[in-house]
Amino acid sequence: MSCKTLEELEVEEVKGFIDLGFEFNKEDLSPRMLSVVPGLQRFGSWEVDHDEERNGTVQDRDHEKIEEAEEEERGVMRPYLSEAWIEDRPESGFANIRLPRVSAAGDMKKLIRYVATSSFCDLQLDYYNDSCPRAEEIIKEQVTNLYHKHGNTAVSWIRNLFHDCIVKSCDASLLLETKYGILSEQSSDRSFGMRNFKYIVTIKEALESECPLTVSCADIVALSARDGVALLGGLQIAMKTGRKDSKESHAAEMEEFIPNPNDTMSSVLSRFQSVGIDTEGAVALLGAHSVGRTHCKNLVDRLYPTVDPSLDPGHAEYLKRRCPSPDPDPAAVEYSRNDLKTPMVLDNMYYKNLLSNKGLLSVDQQLASDPETSPFVEKMASDNGYFLEQFSRAMVVLSENNPITGDEGEIRRDCRYVNRD
Ligand code: HEM
Repeated sequence: MSCKTLEELEVEEVKGFIDLGFEFNKEDLSPRMLSVVPGLQRFGSWEVDHDEERNGTVQDRDHEKIEEAEEEERGVMRPYLSEAWIEDRPESGFANIRLPRVSAAGDMKKLIRYVATSSFCDLQLDYYNDSCPRAEEIIKEQVTNLYHKHGNTAVSWIRNLFHDCIVKSCDASLLLETKYGILSEQSSDRSFGMRNFKYIVTIKEALESECPLTVSCADIVALSARDGVALLGGLQIAMKTGRKDSKESHAAEMEEFIPNPNDTMSSVLSRFQSVGIDTEGAVALLGAHSVGRTHCKNLVDRLYPTVDPSLDPGHAEYLKRRCPSPDPDPAAVEYSRNDLKTPMVLDNMYYKNLLSNKGLLSVDQQLASDPETSPFVEKMASDNGYFLEQFSRAMVVLSENNPITGDEGEIRRDCRYVNRD
């Protein structure tokens, strides 16, 4: 299914109003109405179809203005949209959507636009079926080849999804480099330790040679994470596609959107909640820290000058050997693996480590002590299958956070730069 253009959606919007009993006349369109319902500007292209219906139903302009003012004062008294759909089209997919009562014409317009775009331009499974049938296969091939050459690429793809999607939108803004007036999100302190971006170029090149300008970088972020999870021992996740790429970076908002490892559990949970991820999902997603590494820069606060009492003393000794200085050189590659026993497997060892006080970051260890999260930690520690299921479920929610779809955004030619033509 292809998405409608904005113009088409605007005309649909007008037709929707007419279906609901609204009546318009070209001569009576005020500038205010045109700004609220821009599809009316293309009035001439569809008025022929509705000539008959409209005959003799022209409203007096002054009367309309008075009505509008009254409506704004007392709340819109027109038909309640969701009710209209339920009564007239019981088979419609809209039937289950309940819209809040709106108080002004502008709010009504926003709601209609929201419903229109979310229904016509949603992500979907196999979005590239017609336009690039081998897209998902190519990504999987590339991710697999890269994994066999550099195992930690699979780890990077999982972290990429979190950092891209939690900051406003799954829109590949993370991949933009500092150039052409853009400040890269990769330069933020929150992106410290992120790696392997150069191999995204490899994946994109393979796609561009098969289907130029067709597969978005945002979908590469999502699908590479999904394939990375499977390679590291996680489940095969069905993921929708159809994301577009942003034309801007959100570097200035990184600290606001990505939690700090020392944040309180309640603020971390509310961050996840704001993108639709519940507590169980948040606990599962942090299980991504079952793979990969943490640099000393992120560990020393728990080791020096005194060891954090919530850290197992034996593990603290090990970490001090890995990070001998309280003031590590950020450029030095000094780190500890997140999980010493199964460092390259996405499994529930992470939760077992937390229950033994061997969590690396403060946010990890808090999962085991906070009463809201600890029951899930215990359950995940004792049941790897349950952890993997919850992890997959939450990855899907994360991957669908506020995507750009339809004719907004673009398909970048090179994931590192906004298109320049
Ligand atoms: C409260 C939320 C989170 C915080 C504060 C956080 C913070 C961090 C930090 C500080 C590191 C170590 C960076 C380094 O020193 O190199 C890290 C690594 C990592 N994070 Fe998170 N993270 C969070 C959630 C997540 C989520 C939800 C995922 C994925 C679903 C994720 C995936 C990863 C991965 C895979 C690594 C290892 C990267 C590598 O080895 O290259 N993180 N995270």
